Amino acid sequence: MFLRTADRVYINLGEFSAYTFDELFDGVLSIPFEDFMPKDAKVIVDGKCVKSKLFAVTASQKIVKKAIMTRLSKVYKTSLLPETGEEFKIEFAIFKDVVSILLNTSGVGLHKRGYRDYVGAAPLKETLASAMVLLSDFYYDKQLIDPFCGSGTIVLEAAKIALNIAPGLDRSFDFQNWSKIDKSFYQKAREEALDKEYRDKQLDFIGYDIDPKAIALATRHAMRAGLGDKVKFEVASVKDLTLNGSFGTVITNPPYGERLLDKAEVSSLYKTLGKAYKNADNWSLFLITSADNFEKDFGMRADKNRKLYNSNKECRFYEYFRKQKYFRNNTTKE
Ligand SMILES: C[S@@+](CC[C@H](N)C(=O)[O-])C[C@H]1O[C@@H](n2cnc3c(N)ncnc32)[C@H](O)[C@@H]1O
Repeated sequence: MFLRTADRVYINLGEFSAYTFDELFDGVLSIPFEDFMPKDAKVIVDGKCVKSKLFAVTASQKIVKKAIMTRLSKVYKTSLLPETGEEFKIEFAIFKDVVSILLNTSGVGLHKRGYRDYVGAAPLKETLASAMVLLSDFYYDKQLIDPFCGSGTIVLEAAKIALNIAPGLDRSFDFQNWSKIDKSFYQKAREEALDKEYRDKQLDFIGYDIDPKAIALATRHAMRAGLGDKVKFEVASVKDLTLNGSFGTVITNPPYGERLLDKAEVSSLYKTLGKAYKNADNWSLFLITSADNFEKDFGMRADKNRKLYNSNKECRFYEYFRKQKYFRNNTTKE
């Protein structure tokens, strides 16, 4: 309910060493799957083997599944296991001959919050957008701009963080379908989440994009997230970006010159963004890209940069800090 950057939540059902298929079978057989699974459980097994004697994934998968079904068959005293009921996704990980048997409680990845139904060009996962916002120094009561907002993910995740809206409120989780799990856990977490929201705060968060279709999509997502009156999305080119005057934070995921635009076009976009940021002393800027020459094109060395992966692509997250620090009593200090 509350995890903004995690991919999935698993229950670790058991861990044991296995060097042979027999040891794998026996280890899995000893796990009390019946604590979660009823007689008609539909069991889906997936997994990976890394640096281990057992390296054949498909064969290991079959053994794990067979051991689970054997266990259920013994416990429920029947050889008829129709697999027509609640669904359970089991993942095994065999790493250096140690087997972990994990039960996926989330279902689809937690980046699926529920508000983004159509995807734009090269969208960020909501979990990564959230991580970028949490790594930044944004203030909920100051301006936040994403000049390349696409489908609006960064602005919407920032708004959820600022208003303390739980990321899991508008989606369901696999564990909710499990009859052996006490339904009141979910209900309590939901009530707690709703209780912690501050929906009455006003925000000054804006996303710009040159593509009207992207802005239409971002606006749609804002409405679906219940944030239609909290954030703004407008069609504008980065050429027209001004950061002067007020105090704020830019957080953005521009084109990288791979899927969107070519290297020369991207280099020119970074130069334009650098010009807009050059004299914006009261602004900080956080940007993710895989482009090699970003700092050169942008015209400034970052105060800090760290490695982040956008899906499987290795990127850098460049951090430029504002010259003035902001304090909540509204005084500013060098
Ligand atoms: C990598 S995508 C951003 C995706 C976004 N973070 C999301 O989650 O959907 C980059 C965006 O930059 C926009 N763009 C390209 N050139 C631009 C320009 N000159 N000014 C403003 N936006 C531009 C593209 O239309 C595209 O939507």
